[in-house]
Amino acid sequence: MRLLPALTFGTLLLPLAAHAAEPHSYAQPDQVQVTHLDLDLKLDFPHRELDGQATLKLDWKNPQAPSLVLDTRDLKIAKIEALGADGKTTPLNYVLAPRDKQLGSKLTIAAPTHPAQVRIVYVTSPDASGLQWLTPEQTADKKLPFMFSQSESIHARSWVPLQDSPAIRFTYTAHVSSPKDVRVVMSALNDANHPLNGNYTFDQPHPIPSYLLAIGAGDIAVKETGPRSAIYAEPSVVGKAAHEFEDTEKMIATTEQLYGPYRWGRYDILVLPASFPYGGMENPNMTFATPTVLVGDKSLVSLVAHELAHSWSGNLITAASWRDIWLNEGVTTYVQGRITEALYGKSQADEEALLDARALQKEIGKMPANSQKLAPDPRGINADDSLSDVAYSKGSWFLRTLEQRFGRAAFDDYLKGYFNHFAFQSITTEQMLDYMKPNLIDKYPGKMNLAEVKDWVYGTGIPKNAPLPDSPRFDKIDQERSAFLDGKLSADKLDAKGWNTQEWMYFLNRLPDVTPLAKIQQIDSAWHLTGTPNAEIGMRWYTHAIAAGDKAVWPAAADHMTRIGRLYLTLPLYQALATTPEGLTYAEKVYATAKPGYHPLTQQAVEAIFAKAHKIEN
Ligand code: BES
Ligand code: ZN
Repeated sequence: MRLLPALTFGTLLLPLAAHAAEPHSYAQPDQVQVTHLDLDLKLDFPHRELDGQATLKLDWKNPQAPSLVLDTRDLKIAKIEALGADGKTTPLNYVLAPRDKQLGSKLTIAAPTHPAQVRIVYVTSPDASGLQWLTPEQTADKKLPFMFSQSESIHARSWVPLQDSPAIRFTYTAHVSSPKDVRVVMSALNDANHPLNGNYTFDQPHPIPSYLLAIGAGDIAVKETGPRSAIYAEPSVVGKAAHEFEDTEKMIATTEQLYGPYRWGRYDILVLPASFPYGGMENPNMTFATPTVLVGDKSLVSLVAHELAHSWSGNLITAASWRDIWLNEGVTTYVQGRITEALYGKSQADEEALLDARALQKEIGKMPANSQKLAPDPRGINADDSLSDVAYSKGSWFLRTLEQRFGRAAFDDYLKGYFNHFAFQSITTEQMLDYMKPNLIDKYPGKMNLAEVKDWVYGTGIPKNAPLPDSPRFDKIDQERSAFLDGKLSADKLDAKGWNTQEWMYFLNRLPDVTPLAKIQQIDSAWHLTGTPNAEIGMRWYTHAIAAGDKAVWPAAADHMTRIGRLYLTLPLYQALATTPEGLTYAEKVYATAKPGYHPLTQQAVEAIFAKAHKIEN
């Protein structure tokens, strides 16, 4: 799995919310739509609360609509009022429904007179699913507290009451007050020279979906990397990050050349503490990123290429529902590959594409049929589960297939036209296909027919003849791995001195799930993987070593698990340990120490692993 290991595949049937277009939101966009959000929030670190109000501008669609229905989760609501055109306020009645485990609490606000604006005064919960609050001790520099949001998929509702559906777009403005030394940033234009005065205002003039709402605050320094890009990070991290990400301006310029102008103004990157639960998040104007990619040799900077690419695929054109998420992640992974190729060469881009493709080939057959589809039946999925390898790897493989069939020039031209045509809209897979038919399929007859396209989009598995890049370096690693496993080559004779990060990842990905302990020990004495500073390598290494029964690696694995909260890098270790009673006990001990530093999502995911393991035990 790209973001999460294969805990459970999306077999869970969600209760269908009132509006069937997006089953993960209670919003009723056919009745009324939010067009602008104005936030006024105070950061309360001691209480781990955001305290303030959200004012929503409304576009009433149905003259008979009796109410405004919003999504919330664990919000404490103090009052709700209508704002008249004259500025007069009138209290409104509302009902906050009992909390649904997945969807939160439906908020129904009686508003039969259709006010132009509604204001909700509220406080967030200290355990808001979309926020993490860190004490100074839990940060890199240990000076000031830190907080950040992660709204995708359906966590914006835990810090703002709104229509939490990717189909609904709105502009936003915000005022945020903070303790004096704490810098605040948001998914809007940020000013690198903003004085540390505890008073911040923001403006996002482009309509965005709710999952792109973001806020971060802490001991944040700023370092420019180009005319329209800067790194925001804790003082001890910002220099290293600015060096790792020094190619950011080149990446922006490259993407503009391929697909048209970058339309958002600045592109900045906020490097978060290591508890950030994802690799990166494409918050408009301010990508949020894990520090685990700062390995010193730029080998993991395709993460920036990926999040930047979302400025076209995702933020400019947004999947209208979580079921269509491959329109965000698949197209972005394709564009990421093109940026990587332009900056770091075809061999690097091909290795990254092959790593994805091979991992997908290994996994896809084990998934339920519906989850194998790029555009699955929405009734069978859960918002966070829809982000499997399928959206990323099958989606980008589909686009590479289109490129190969139609030729690079024609396909580039098509994709640029697509970004222009649907700019600042949320669209479904079907709208994408309706555009593709006249503008690509029928325009260049004989290259690829609609049936083949539909097989990619609605079929299970991977279509036959899906093209794969060649990688002579990976081929050589395959040969060496086989020879090593067959006992024909000793570990120290592996030609691994020059392996880059992706080549180590490939070697480790393709070792058997349970490799003999002796082989594991031979690799470690030759290559010293235990204690590696590269967490992509570490995650794979510790998982293998634990599965092989190598208890000597447990303390180093525990250190990795405690330091890093990124789901994809930490959960596999918990899972590997949880397969034996002794390992499970150890994992629970590690978790007891690590838990206070973990994001709510990471806590939830680790606890789910434990619950499942205990169920199997009994
Ligand atoms: N938008 C995703 C992150 C995401 C997806 C968060 C779904 C929550 C739910 C982001 O663009 C992403 O794909 N991040 C990857 C990194 C990338 C290089 C593949 C990640 O976090 O690992
Ligand atoms: Zn992405």
